[in-house]
Amino acid sequence: MIKNSELFSIKEASAWATEYLGKNVTTANISYLVNYGKVSKVGENGSTQVVKEELVGYYSNYKSQREIEWREKLGEDLNWALSFENLKESETTKHVNRLHPYKGKFIPQLVEYFLDSHIDKFKRDIYFKKEDIVLDPFCGSGTTLVESNELGINAIGIDVSVFNTLISNCKVSKHDIKLLNLEINRISKLLNDFVVNSHTLDFEQELLYELSIFNNKYFPVPDFKYQVQRKVIDGKKYGEEKANEFLPTYYKLVDKYNIELLQPNNNSFLEKWFIKHIRREIDFVFEEIKKVEDKKTKKILSIILSRTMRSCRATTHADLATLKDPIITTYYCSKHGKICKPLFSILKWWNLYSKDTIKRLNEFDSIRTQTTQICLTGDSRQIDIFNELEKKDKEFAQIVRNRKINGIFSSPPYVGLIDYHEQHAYSYDLFGFERKDDLEIGPLYKGQGKAAQESYVDGISDVLINCKKYFADDYNVLLVSNDKYNLYPRIAERSGMKIVNQYKRPVLNRTEKDKGAYSEIIFHLKEK
Ligand SMILES: C[S@@+](CC[C@H](N)C(=O)[O-])C[C@H]1O[C@@H](n2cnc3c(N)ncnc32)[C@H](O)[C@@H]1O
Repeated sequence: MIKNSELFSIKEASAWATEYLGKNVTTANISYLVNYGKVSKVGENGSTQVVKEELVGYYSNYKSQREIEWREKLGEDLNWALSFENLKESETTKHVNRLHPYKGKFIPQLVEYFLDSHIDKFKRDIYFKKEDIVLDPFCGSGTTLVESNELGINAIGIDVSVFNTLISNCKVSKHDIKLLNLEINRISKLLNDFVVNSHTLDFEQELLYELSIFNNKYFPVPDFKYQVQRKVIDGKKYGEEKANEFLPTYYKLVDKYNIELLQPNNNSFLEKWFIKHIRREIDFVFEEIKKVEDKKTKKILSIILSRTMRSCRATTHADLATLKDPIITTYYCSKHGKICKPLFSILKWWNLYSKDTIKRLNEFDSIRTQTTQICLTGDSRQIDIFNELEKKDKEFAQIVRNRKINGIFSSPPYVGLIDYHEQHAYSYDLFGFERKDDLEIGPLYKGQGKAAQESYVDGISDVLINCKKYFADDYNVLLVSNDKYNLYPRIAERSGMKIVNQYKRPVLNRTEKDKGAYSEIIFHLKEK
């Protein structure tokens, strides 16, 4: 098929692509292209090669087309430097920023750009300096708080969802890592014994063995994906046929090992979205966490359990971000191009996330500054910031009263895009936290119609009006938003503020499946 073409080893391809794109392309990135059929594979493992022509084809599209297309769609005033396209994923999820998944968080480098003390041809002023106090009234998973700490700035966060407050405070709190390690070891050992005593491990082992035989035969790597890419095979149709073919083998093993798939009821998220064995293990770990006396340790353990639960929901690999239907059988996985199975035990993920959490907390400890960051739970339209702060940290509350807040850096919810409580429904169910969905501004469930837009304008303005009471003179408000309905000029007006500048940035690193052209504006507002 491929004759007279220049061939690259994986290593050579990574060096070539790095130079060509002017950004780091690892050998793992190239292997990904091969495994996912984006470029064809020549030779076998160990001596795998790729065709240069195909690599050029792939990357030239990638390099120029995207910026041109996006500028056409989003406007010439797009500030490409704010795309942070050269950053690796490990940098955008550095240390505690990846303690728990959260749909809708911004990348830390964007926060850093606006909070730090550099200036450039776009950012001509410094908005916050060391020891200032910054407010994020839509704190989410706490990115502003974490970045503030790194930069030596104090910060207050507010979020209406108590689970988001928990994530944020866990990220910035100083933990007793030795104690945390002890508790993790204790619980992991008990969980391991619990799992060994059930049939799930033997069942999974046999199931994986059967699956590997089946997948090797019908979904050879990388040929299958390559043929799907080139449309020689209709991946979905073929995959679903084969998935049906495998089902009798699956059910035979389910019977053999007495595996219980469904829970007796499916009224709550916990009952509907977890296979019975997984649910038992979750409850088991939760009971052990309840026995921990130290409050902060208990909280961070809950975050590890919650992250584990999220990875163990009965869904396909492709639908982790947007759940469709509970999956309790083997299925064709469009992401991996083969038959995959649901999970039957949380053990692997619990162990992985426990280790990862300790590593991330240690990393953050090594760069942490002696400043204060606290997230409060409440509705930012009404919360009494001084009083609520007083309940958490008297000394810091006094400092804030004296010095006042220097401004806001925040990304408010957008109109009708995400239900922030619902995305962590599993944790609300398990931990029994009170939900305040009706206080969310601009939730998905209220849609994007005229009424939703009006109530959004009122909601965001009410937040700004409330927060202004706590501001120092000459404050700066920076709001990241995808303002597709052009509501921010009205929001500014209604809040007694004026928009003094707008930064338009392309959003490239979207975690969700929709990778279309998308931009955000960072509005800079000041007192009118
Ligand atoms: C876009 S997210 C913020 C994400 C955050 N920048 C991050 O990096 O994780 C918006 C947040 O606003 C919160 N929110 C919505 N309505 C609120 C209200 N009335 N008061 C306080 N927070 C609210 C949501 O719960 C959500 O966490």
